[in-house]
Amino acid sequence: MTATITFDTTRNAGQIDPRVFSGFLEHIGRAVYEGVYDPGNPLSDEAGFRTDVLAALRRMRMPLVRYPGGNFVSNYDWKDGIGPADARPVRTDFAWQSLEPNTFGTDEFAAWCRELGTEPMLAVNLGTGSPKAAAELVEYCNVAGGTHWSDLRIANGSPEPHDIRTWCLGNEMDGPWQAGHVPALEYARRAEQAAKLMKGIDPRIETVVAGSSGNQMATYLEWDREVLEYTWEHVDYISAHRYSRNEAADTPWFLAEGVEIDRIIDEYRALLTYVRGVKRASKRVFLCFDEWNVWYRARTPADRSGDWKMAPHLIEEVYNLEDALVCAQYLNSFIRNADIVKIACLAQIVNVIAPLLTRPDGLLVQSIYWPFVLFAESAKGISLTPAIDGPSYAAGARGGVPALDASAAYREDDGSLAVFIVNRDPSNGVTVRVRAVDRSIVSVASASLLAGPGPTAHNTWEAPDVVRPGGLEAATNAEGGVEITLPPAALGTLTLNTAAR
Ligand code: AHR
Repeated sequence: MTATITFDTTRNAGQIDPRVFSGFLEHIGRAVYEGVYDPGNPLSDEAGFRTDVLAALRRMRMPLVRYPGGNFVSNYDWKDGIGPADARPVRTDFAWQSLEPNTFGTDEFAAWCRELGTEPMLAVNLGTGSPKAAAELVEYCNVAGGTHWSDLRIANGSPEPHDIRTWCLGNEMDGPWQAGHVPALEYARRAEQAAKLMKGIDPRIETVVAGSSGNQMATYLEWDREVLEYTWEHVDYISAHRYSRNEAADTPWFLAEGVEIDRIIDEYRALLTYVRGVKRASKRVFLCFDEWNVWYRARTPADRSGDWKMAPHLIEEVYNLEDALVCAQYLNSFIRNADIVKIACLAQIVNVIAPLLTRPDGLLVQSIYWPFVLFAESAKGISLTPAIDGPSYAAGARGGVPALDASAAYREDDGSLAVFIVNRDPSNGVTVRVRAVDRSIVSVASASLLAGPGPTAHNTWEAPDVVRPGGLEAATNAEGGVEITLPPAALGTLTLNTAAR
């Protein structure tokens, strides 16, 4: 099979926002405790932060990490998580039926972000919490000093403001499972009040209003429309969430998941255009895809219950190659839709539905880590729109779907072109010619292949390198293009040097 992918630097979706390579850390299972924070462990530093986890996360180059939830945030009192650690209360966590010791809170998270080299993105409790408490958290974090809450931060050992710019107005408030879930209009009123108070304290902040928790919800898009119509002037983004599932173990169908991701983003683009039109607004609101991943193996109520323990083993999904290729399609879609998707957070980062799993004595890197690393290191610049001329394959109930899913990032400063290509077809390899109508590809700076012995291949503690990137042969041709061959079910990434034609 052969295919040609053609780019034209004048056909693009604008600048790729680096924040589409962000992550999400929630107080759930072993994500915080035993994940990022493990005081006393020989692998932890003086602050209790796992250094092996920090080192692995640094390679993911996440500009933002969203925290502290997720469902957890909707019954969380941030005031429990500040001050002397031994005076903090142990609380019950409604969302995950676990015990929350509160020894890791806002200040520890901000310090951990500094250590990692990322920016915190905080969610406020708009389930059982009030707009007033949300604004107090902004004051605690962002005011330099001289007020009750900012002086308390200083007294608690953080003399400099945390200076947090991105704030989620609650989480998945459309979901009946959410603490404090209410109908759309009631949430919208709460969110608007919170946004006004929060921006009143610090006008530099940006807010994310809670959109639908997925397109499976009966209120999908209707919830979003109502919430946007009410809050438009006070919010900067609306959140979207998706967890991809392959319960039927139907690999060809699952590998076409990018079709659904594109569709959701298209639907939000249409909705945002519609609401802006109805409001005759010049102000724009963008999409914040602040939870995305594969998650289906552990979803029963029992899987979600921590049995009222601290740091229980919850939803520690084991990821395989096909999951990694679905993750690559999320990233391709975010890049292709750079005009509308400004933030996206992989949910989550450690132990819980995560690319990294910890044990007391080490770290396992899962398959889904690799696409993130490969994309985050080179997807910079302008998103070029790929024109793909290639084969389709039979994707089960999804019908005939193009085998290739691609995106590209072009840097005007140095003429480099990064290209990301997933071969979704699990049965056939494809030889791909990549070319640009207005640039010649003069050399290949790097080329990587993420493939494996089969779509369900995965890494284990005993065999940790079954799914990891290797080299990819890439040859430039006389026409100023480049040629690669992808095996079935694989991701190829290229960084190319180009010159004007
Ligand atoms: O990421 C796990 C959970 O998934 C989050 O807490 C919630 O927002 C979503 O339903």
